[in-house]
Amino acid sequence: MRQIPNTIDPNGERFAENTAAYRADLATLAERMRFAIDGGNHPKAGGRARSIERHHGRGKVMARDRIDMVIDEGSPFLELSTLAGFGQVDDEFPGAGIITGIGVVHGVPWMFIANDATVKGGSLFPAGIKKQVRAQDIALENDLGCIYLVDSGGAFLPMQDEVFPDKDHFGGTFYRQARMSAAGLPQLSVVLGGCTAGGAYVPALSDEVIMVEGIGRIFLGGPPIVKAALGEVVEPDDLGGAALHTRESGVSDYMVQTETEAYGLLRELCENTNQSRIDDRNGWLSWKEPNAPEHPAEEILGIINADTRIPFDSRQIISRLVDGSEFAEFKPEWGTSIVVGFARIWGHQVGIISNNGIIFSEDALKATHFIELCNQRSVPLLFLQNTTGYMVGRDSEIGGIAKNGAKMVAAVANCRVPKYTVLIGGSYGAGNYGMCGRGFNPRFLFSWPNSRIATMAADTAETVLTDIRLGGMKGAETTEEEIAEIRSTIRGQYEEQSDPYYATSRIWDDGIISPLDTRDVLGMCLSLASRQEPPVSGDRIVYRM
Ligand code: COA
Repeated sequence: MRQIPNTIDPNGERFAENTAAYRADLATLAERMRFAIDGGNHPKAGGRARSIERHHGRGKVMARDRIDMVIDEGSPFLELSTLAGFGQVDDEFPGAGIITGIGVVHGVPWMFIANDATVKGGSLFPAGIKKQVRAQDIALENDLGCIYLVDSGGAFLPMQDEVFPDKDHFGGTFYRQARMSAAGLPQLSVVLGGCTAGGAYVPALSDEVIMVEGIGRIFLGGPPIVKAALGEVVEPDDLGGAALHTRESGVSDYMVQTETEAYGLLRELCENTNQSRIDDRNGWLSWKEPNAPEHPAEEILGIINADTRIPFDSRQIISRLVDGSEFAEFKPEWGTSIVVGFARIWGHQVGIISNNGIIFSEDALKATHFIELCNQRSVPLLFLQNTTGYMVGRDSEIGGIAKNGAKMVAAVANCRVPKYTVLIGGSYGAGNYGMCGRGFNPRFLFSWPNSRIATMAADTAETVLTDIRLGGMKGAETTEEEIAEIRSTIRGQYEEQSDPYYATSRIWDDGIISPLDTRDVLGMCLSLASRQEPPVSGDRIVYRM
């Protein structure tokens, strides 16, 4: 394969400015991650620090450290949706009160779902439940067993209408747990806190359960409910402690004295679950010994323009993500606003579709053709989104953009091979659909801190919506100030809602990642697929189960 020629001058003035701006974006990302992890410098950090101190005071380990104690030493943990809930409900739920991600135990990848008891007692508000559902869907699609580190007050009761009754609410998590167990994906639980009511079903539905004495409890109704309902006064451990459930009720299978013991035992249980390893390859996905990109990933920071109106060539991004910077570009002379071709990431072959701006009719047809090639050859697809959407205007309509765009959208929807999406720039309008946005079920979707996602850019929205609003006023007198006010309100709304932190908070993606980590993240995602059966029919979509 040919190497992509380098067209970047790392000594240029703009390169240095872009790099400085991007480094500032990465610092913001790190600071916000810190808030989710332990409060950082956030104004709300004080309350969180007190919760953490109380948690430690009870001899309990923090959720991320728990995961660290289970996974293989020195192995990576791919944390998902770290900033779920960011900026919502007055920032009361850092990380949405739950940690999800993929870690390796004895060489086998597992989905971890760990409650953070230092955030509202580990109870789940809407973004928390969505995060758990998303983790379970990822587990199902990628054939991962689930490890639940349970330390949760269950539904966040003040918002019970938004977490309890609907399809993908609490009931949906139990449904998924039961279905995954039946599908041969092991469901293992360690009980590390009070599991009340609905919370009791996480361990009860698990294939194997470990309880830690003194901290782990399971009851359908906690002591206050029992007192109210039956007038019985009972201590928590007498009602649902580890000894009761392991020796008397049989709800739990193992009882241990400490968390350290629990994680040692959990690792032993994992050994008997017969799941495929992270480095198993089923042969359907072509693999070659990997080599690093020729051009350094750090240069991506200088390539992406701080001024989002200035475009960049996606080939220069690709060359910093793929093995040896090698890329077999398909149809390079036609439909040049879309760049497609074959490459390898950590040895796994992948078909890449990336934008160089607006999508025209021939770009849409070229992408459709390439998707078909990847389906025919069983090559997974990676979409690198950076588009303002499909071309509008009379010429474009005459050229059939509506139908040609729809062909691309349909090809993405009906694609057999695994799909992965990274928002490396703009994700606007129907371009989001054609480039495999969330609605098209990519196996994973990550965003870069510079990305933006909305029906249209804030500049365009300001003009379009102001015109619509003024048109609706039907000639009523409007002062310059009023018009300026309308414009600024619309712009403000679009800028806020197209921000990647707004998106990740609502779990429209699986997390914001740095360009510097993207190759490793994608490598892990592709490894998960490589150990599975070859794709034969449509995606295994959870709601069809
Ligand atoms: N809904 C709303 N808030 C909850 C909650 C829930 N289900 N569970 C805990 N919280 C909140 C508490 O109000 C408290 O909030 P604050 O920090 O603003 O004061 C915080 O979480 C910590 O709770 P606390 O009871 O002080 O912690 P704890 O570690 O001593 O006990 C639990 C944790 C989960 C055992 C206990 O809070 C509990 O039993 N919660 C209710 C469980 C329940 O009945 N759930 C029903 C699910 S359907």
